Amino acid sequence: MKIAILPGDGIGTEIIAEAVKVLKALDLTFEMETAPVGGAAYAAHGHPLPEATLELAKAADAVLFGAVGDFQYDKLERALRPEQAILGLRKELGLFANFRPAICYEELTHASSLKPELVAGLDILIIRELTGDIYFGQPRGRRTAVDGHFPGAEEAFDTMRYSRPEIERIAHVAFQAARKRGRKVLSVDKANVLETFQFWRDVVTEVHQAYPDVQLEHMYVDNAAMQLVKAPKNIDVLVTGNMFGDILSDEAAMLTGSIGMLPSASLNEKNQGLYEPSHGSAPDIAGKGIANPLATILSAAMMLRYSLGQPEAADRIERAVKKVLASGLRTVDIYSEGTKKVGTVEMGDAVVAAL
Ligand code: IPM
Ligand code: MN
Repeated sequence: MKIAILPGDGIGTEIIAEAVKVLKALDLTFEMETAPVGGAAYAAHGHPLPEATLELAKAADAVLFGAVGDFQYDKLERALRPEQAILGLRKELGLFANFRPAICYEELTHASSLKPELVAGLDILIIRELTGDIYFGQPRGRRTAVDGHFPGAEEAFDTMRYSRPEIERIAHVAFQAARKRGRKVLSVDKANVLETFQFWRDVVTEVHQAYPDVQLEHMYVDNAAMQLVKAPKNIDVLVTGNMFGDILSDEAAMLTGSIGMLPSASLNEKNQGLYEPSHGSAPDIAGKGIANPLATILSAAMMLRYSLGQPEAADRIERAVKKVLASGLRTVDIYSEGTKKVGTVEMGDAVVAAL
């Protein structure tokens, strides 16, 4: 089992170190190799996704990714910004299926900004299509407008597009995931306005024919944004396109009150995957030893389950995390009165001890 370790920027190195520690504490043998990515890679090699890093990721069974981004790189031209590393990895590895669970842990129910009864026991799985849509659609660019409201003016444009196979494969992923859970799929689109998403709705409905045991509902994205804060527990699996998925997954993450707890997985057709916490590089707290490593540790668990064929080891890590939470240890982001505040390393050590 070959794992590419890409820590990245900000708190990335600190949280990845804890996840690696947990992996090493399992009685399994991994081949792990570390490479620079994001701003760190730009600083060292002049590019956020150096060729050697990309090759390492391609050759691995799975990539464990920290986070990228730092204020100092914001002024760089787009192609050199840290974000290009994660977009490049998604594209080059064909990671079209992004799993973003939003789970509200019992002990953290009160950390949510919503009333406890709305989020207690919450368990949503967002499945975001990750290599299509307006994120990657061509053409895109800047030009002088020849029509529109201001002909002759400078304008910018991006292209929203989805092909039938792209929609079909993500729909299959969603229906199959729903079969292992609550057997409900909510497909989110903007079919009332956008042709791309009328097509999305049509194709998802067709794919559904093969899954009569799964319930399918369609919803416009504006309504879905509302339902997520009104009655989130009605949602089981939510499937949507790249951009709506970007936005709704952040909203769903906040329902749990603790983005520092949420893992994610991005898979391709060969089940090769990239695993990363749902949160970013948090440069404001980098180097302070206070970042919550649990999202990354739980991402490592997802990696064992989805790409490395080790579901028991994944269960073990998840049980250990629950045990640590039950024992009252908290990093600052999930701290509340009556619990014990610990740092990044102590939290990692506690998970290892609980294994
Ligand atoms: C995410 C991030 C990325 C995205 C950025 C960093 C390119 O927001 O993983 O959700 O928009 O997909
Ligand atoms: Mn995002």
